[in-house]
Amino acid sequence: MTDAPRLEFRHIGKTFPGVRALGDVGFAVRAGSVHGLLGENGAGKSTMMKILGGEYIPDEGEVAIDGQVRHFRKAADAIDAGVAVIHQELQYVPELSVMENLLLGRLPTRFGLVDRHRALAWTRERLDALGVDLDPRAKLKQLSIGQRQMVEIVKAILRDAKILALDEPTSSLSHRETDVLFRLVRDLRTQGKAMIYISHRLDEIFELCDAATIFRDGRKVADFDALEGVTRDALVQRMVGREISDIFGYQPRDHGEVRLSVKNVTGRAAPLPVSFEVRAGEIVGFFGLVGAGRSETMRVIYGADRRTAGEVRVDGQSIKASHIRDAIRHGLVFCPEDRKEDGIIGVRSVSENINISARRNHLTAGLFVNDRNEARTADHYIERLRIRTPHRRQEIRLLSGGNQQKAVLSRWLAEKDLRVLIVDEPTRGIDVGAKNEIYNVLYELAARGVAVVMISSELPEVLGVSDRVVTMCRGRITAQFDRASANEQNVLAAALPESAGSTPIRNA
Ligand SMILES: Nc1ncnc2c1ncn2[C@@H]1O[C@H](COP(=O)(O)OP(=O)(O)OP(=O)(O)O)[C@@H](O)[C@H]1O
Ligand SMILES: [Mg+2]
Repeated sequence: MTDAPRLEFRHIGKTFPGVRALGDVGFAVRAGSVHGLLGENGAGKSTMMKILGGEYIPDEGEVAIDGQVRHFRKAADAIDAGVAVIHQELQYVPELSVMENLLLGRLPTRFGLVDRHRALAWTRERLDALGVDLDPRAKLKQLSIGQRQMVEIVKAILRDAKILALDEPTSSLSHRETDVLFRLVRDLRTQGKAMIYISHRLDEIFELCDAATIFRDGRKVADFDALEGVTRDALVQRMVGREISDIFGYQPRDHGEVRLSVKNVTGRAAPLPVSFEVRAGEIVGFFGLVGAGRSETMRVIYGADRRTAGEVRVDGQSIKASHIRDAIRHGLVFCPEDRKEDGIIGVRSVSENINISARRNHLTAGLFVNDRNEARTADHYIERLRIRTPHRRQEIRLLSGGNQQKAVLSRWLAEKDLRVLIVDEPTRGIDVGAKNEIYNVLYELAARGVAVVMISSELPEVLGVSDRVVTMCRGRITAQFDRASANEQNVLAAALPESAGSTPIRNA
């Protein structure tokens, strides 16, 4: 019995209406190891984690811990068995504080009342010991997604879970938060925990994982006992079932007149004046660390946040300040980073989500929505970006995380009369194959004369896709590089605050 793996999935099957999410899938995770779980969007990774966490009951198969079969009927069963799953979509109570969250069910009491002082001291001590920088009194709703994720991770550690699964934990973490997370994961490995780590960032898999399993269309296609000697291309090939020799596939294009001109723009969340221009057909990558002010600046340009000074012009025409509709009227469109929170209309279909902003283009005589056009647009993007859905009428909330992202992103890509497109982290949470397609859509738009601004925190992506790279740091533009002169060193150096010159950064 001592040789049994800490955790084993055996012949797991799970079917949803119209979707076989998992079919006869098994793999094992050793104690004291980090096991990578890879696969395209919709491959079944999160479904497996929900089975492990007791959220879903499998149709077939079983989960064994230390060789003993366990049947989880609800989340509490998994917790009792020492399992902690940090899900891709976090559920949280917005009004609770960090402290209340961490202490849930064990608040120290004195005379029957919660002793806030002691609780606060206890929480501070624990967070300090773990090297996690969080204010115990902050309410969850005040935290970034990354910070909320940290709270979940700390909660699992405090509960002393022996099995810990992290479903795309870094997709919204800053570089610093990622460093903290990696350190925690390595410590936990030393303590003998068994961990599952899901990420679309292959560099993280190589950096962190001891072994890996690849899912494809709900089946297991590969197991790796060790990752030494395994190449990135080999993993990609197994994941997508075809070879992608050059994920960026960049082609040079001619650039036309200046389409977007931004002069000395400031806003409440972006107080320092920013100026830049983008030409027709040009893709300009904005690189910076999370918090460098890129999204804030773009939101002011688009009108989502108040503009306090400066001028934005599209094809020479001035856009009214803080006026999204005027921006859209001039063909300036912004696809926000937080597509799930900002963008998704949960109960509506995939097709409606793709067509929602493009809808005004389908108005016939200003009155009727042309269903056939909608269907065509939806099907086009479902195929193009490989959105895994049984049909275009499926409710979007039932899609996997990455497939929801693709559907919402299509909405902006499908917009007609587009002149300037600003996309914020367009490939976050998206698998390698679909990334490649998203780049191709951006190239196509540029070839049609659209001026494209792409915010990205993935340095290889910025270098691979952009005609020109602009770096931002602490709210200002710090440098610009044309494609030929941009490289990892100079772009990174220009994006880092001087005092943090040694901050390690990941390669995607
Ligand atoms: N509750 C549900 N109802 C219907 N279909 C579902 C449900 N949950 C998952 N699915 C489907 O099961 C398949 C697997 O989804 P899953 O979330 O496990 O993918 P994933 O590998 O985690 O993908 P991603 O990388 O995008 O997060 C998808 O086709 C998804 O649409
Ligand atoms: Mg998932």
